[in-house]
Order: sequence, then structure tokens, then C-alpha cells
Amino acid sequence: MPTDPRPVGIFDSGIGGLTVLTAIRQALPAERLLYFGDNLHMPYGARSLDEVRAFSVAITEALLAKGCKLVVIACNTASAAALAEVRRLWPDVPFVGMEPAVKPAVEQTASGVVGVIATSATFQSDLYASVVERFAQGVEVLHQPCPGLVKQIEAGEFDTPATEDMLHGWLDPMLARGIDALVLGCTHYPIIRPLIERIVGPGVRVIDPAPAVARQTSRLLNEHGLANELAEDAPMEIHTSGDPAAFAAIMRRMGLADAEVSGARWAEGVLTLT
Ligand code: DGL
Repeated sequence: MPTDPRPVGIFDSGIGGLTVLTAIRQALPAERLLYFGDNLHMPYGARSLDEVRAFSVAITEALLAKGCKLVVIACNTASAAALAEVRRLWPDVPFVGMEPAVKPAVEQTASGVVGVIATSATFQSDLYASVVERFAQGVEVLHQPCPGLVKQIEAGEFDTPATEDMLHGWLDPMLARGIDALVLGCTHYPIIRPLIERIVGPGVRVIDPAPAVARQTSRLLNEHGLANELAEDAPMEIHTSGDPAAFAAIMRRMGLADAEVSGARWAEGVLTLT
């Protein structure tokens, strides 16, 4: 049995990728996980794809310098901006990225109308265009950017009247057009899934691709002979380029109480995990 104790690297602009980390931890309890949240530059969704690509390449460099054997881009925006580029730069490293789960939404719709919520940058990407082109198959796919929602979630406003108002503004028009599936196309959004589900009601299926991403991570680790099969409940290492104490506090609110959070430093475009 191959056993490789090196960590799986995971990154996002902030706490959003922790929804993916949670799914990976459930699926692969023996894997050590090394997480980086780039809170200094959050939100990514309001930035240009070029800028997000440069951050993502530097983050990948830092995760590989820490010995990561596989990298999960647990951010739709960064995946849209940089997945092709990091695969080109590191052809021997397996990468897992996020893409809006249009395919399962299209497979499940009865009304023939599905909704996608994501960041503006994600909707501007070629990756999003190609997902719709490949999978829409005659189904109407409505897309709705949610500017300001990521910051709201990072501020801990998981279920407040202000967040609810914002969501009504974006979701009510899609509901009026008859969606019966809603794709969460940003890894921050599953954090407020209960609120989203309350607003859309039981007639709309809410789709989070995190479990599928965890399965893909497992498949790639096995395919490359990189799985760690000995340890149970392996440790996690968490870093943020923001305030570690604030990050730890919000992790506790997400039910992730057992991790210490360390810092990270950006200097002239180079990231060091400290
Ligand atoms: N969580 C990220 C995503 O999946 C990015 C959010 C942001 O920083 O705007 O798109």
C-alpha cells in the first residue's frame, strides 16, 4: 500500500474554502491538510482575473514549498482565473479546481430553468462560458453575481436581516422566473446555506459541489499513488494573510474548533507561510 504523509494544500480568498476542507476531511480523514486563506486580498470576486491569477500562482508556489503533494483551488474565482495556468506551470503536480455545478443542476431540473450565483469575476471567465456551453443542453441557465456577499459572510453575518435582504434582491427575481435548482458557484455561499434554503423554499434544490470535489481529490490521490493510508484524524495546518485570531474565531462559528491558525506574509508578490 503506498503511503504518502505529505499534506494536501487547499486555498481560497478567505474562509470560503473551509467548506471544501470540511468535505475533504470527512472523505479523507487520514490526509494532513494545509489551508491558506488570502484574507489580505479578499474579496477576489471584485478583482480582475489577471490579478487573481498572479495571487494563485504565488500561493501555489508557497504551498509546494511547504511540501504539498496535491493542491485544491477551493475557490471558484481563483479556479476560473488560474487553474489552466498552474497546470501549465507545474505539469507534474495534480490540481483540483472548482467549477459551477451546472451539470447536476441541469440533470435534476424539471422546470427547465436553473440559477447560478457566483462572483462577478467567475461569470466573466472562459471557464464559466465553457461550463454553460457544455452542460446547459437546452435548459435556461440564469446567472446572478452577488457583489458584497462574500464580505458579508467574512464579517460573520451568516443569518442577519441585512444578509437576508441582500439575498432576496438576487434570488427573488430568479424564483419569479421559475428556477427549481440553485448552484452555489462560490465556496463562501455554503456557509449560509440554511438562510439560502429558507429563502428559496423546499421547491428549489440547492447544489454545493464540495462533496464532488472531495471525491475528485480522493480519486486523484489514488491515481497518482499519493494517498496516506496509515494515520487517522491527521492534523490540519491553517494560515491566513489576515488576522489569525479573527480567522480562528470565525472557524469556531463554522464548527471547526480544533485548529490553530498561523499567519502568512506577502512581500513583493511572494507569499511566505509563517
Ligand atoms: N470563495 C471564492 C469563490 O469561490 C471567492 C470569493 C471572493 O473572494 O470574492 O469564488
